[in-house]
Amino acid sequence: VRRHRIAVIAGDGIGKEVVPEGLRVLEAVSRRYGFGLEYDHFDFASCEYYLRHGAMMPADWKQQIGSHDAIFFGAVGWPETVPDHISLWGSLIQFRREFDQYVNLRPVKLMPGVPSPLAGRKPGDIDFYVVRENTEGEYSSIGGRMFPGTDREIVMQETVMTRVGIDRVLKYAFELAQRREKKHLTSATKSNGISITMPYWDERVEAMAPQYADVRWDKYHIDILTAHFVQHPDWFDVVVASNLFGDILSDLGPACTGTIGIAPAANINPERVFPSLFEPVHGSAPDIAGKWIANPVGQIWSAALMLDHLGEREAAAAIVSAIERVLAEPALRTRDLGGPAGTIACGQAIADAVE
Ligand code: NAD
Ligand code: IPM
Ligand code: MN
Repeated sequence: VRRHRIAVIAGDGIGKEVVPEGLRVLEAVSRRYGFGLEYDHFDFASCEYYLRHGAMMPADWKQQIGSHDAIFFGAVGWPETVPDHISLWGSLIQFRREFDQYVNLRPVKLMPGVPSPLAGRKPGDIDFYVVRENTEGEYSSIGGRMFPGTDREIVMQETVMTRVGIDRVLKYAFELAQRREKKHLTSATKSNGISITMPYWDERVEAMAPQYADVRWDKYHIDILTAHFVQHPDWFDVVVASNLFGDILSDLGPACTGTIGIAPAANINPERVFPSLFEPVHGSAPDIAGKWIANPVGQIWSAALMLDHLGEREAAAAIVSAIERVLAEPALRTRDLGGPAGTIACGQAIADAVE
């Protein structure tokens, strides 16, 4: 039988509540489709680990998880005890950068029966991908603080964009658009105000577009693009964006589909030199952690993206279909969608629907 080795990292807060539901559904689907999954669980990349060890991860973290077929990740962050930039730059952002997961693929889809906060929207009206650049751009470690504590204090953080870095994520986005029915690519920019990096981003899009003559493409400045997400979500098919713009768009898009709690993410190293990482878009949600009311669908849908990446296409599709059937049932929805179900009840229902 086919076997896949998965590194499992639950992290903090609701990460520890939704990851078991992802594993529950993976177990059900692997039984039904006849492949094997082996899990290795790791306790690093969590704030509890940090408090015990003074670092988010052991020095040899790359050896420990670098040869797995994929990483199944929950969420990290517990700002009450560890500042967010320390916990995130010490874990998730290291994974993305060191494993060269330069594509962050984030599907946005209004599910049948689920009410959208946008009046009159039905499934099919909201069905697109955000393709987020995931290793450079606004998330850069170049910068610093000068004259700290004085009234002349200065802080700077550079945006870094490279030709290779932009072109490779654009290529992924164009190719994805080419495989879709609408064959439509939208580029997020801000080349009116950010006058060096964003015009360069636009230039690279324009240079690449002729190679994908069958793809219709356009671009919007990020400010009006956020407005269009709300007023015209049906305009979008594949939306490609720099690291920060993609981060913002990938919370806004899912919010338009009812909740960020269902949104998944695939942090992909397309060359497969390193493992890719699959996680929900949301964070550790300290405000609801411990209450067992978190929506597990973002984590479970991420499991489907992981199986798709591992070549288990049918099993991945079965998970998405099970999610759709469960979400169509108001009694099985969690509180963020106005339902009464807890995390486990919702996860169990999806696992049952898969079998
Ligand atoms: P968040 O996504 O954790 O929560 C935002 C809001 O959405 C909260 O009200 C939360 O209760 C709700 N929410 C999130 N996921 C939900 C789910 N599955 N079901 C129901 N409700 C859900 O974002 P935040 O509050 O900005 O960040 C909290 C912590 O998580 C911070 O430490 C932050 O840095 C971290 N974070 C981590 C990741 C990640 O690991 N990928 C992503 C975002 C934020
Ligand atoms: C995400 C998160 C992270 C990001 C944070 C927690 C650093 O918001 O995965 O979307 O900004 O990439
Ligand atoms: Mn985010």
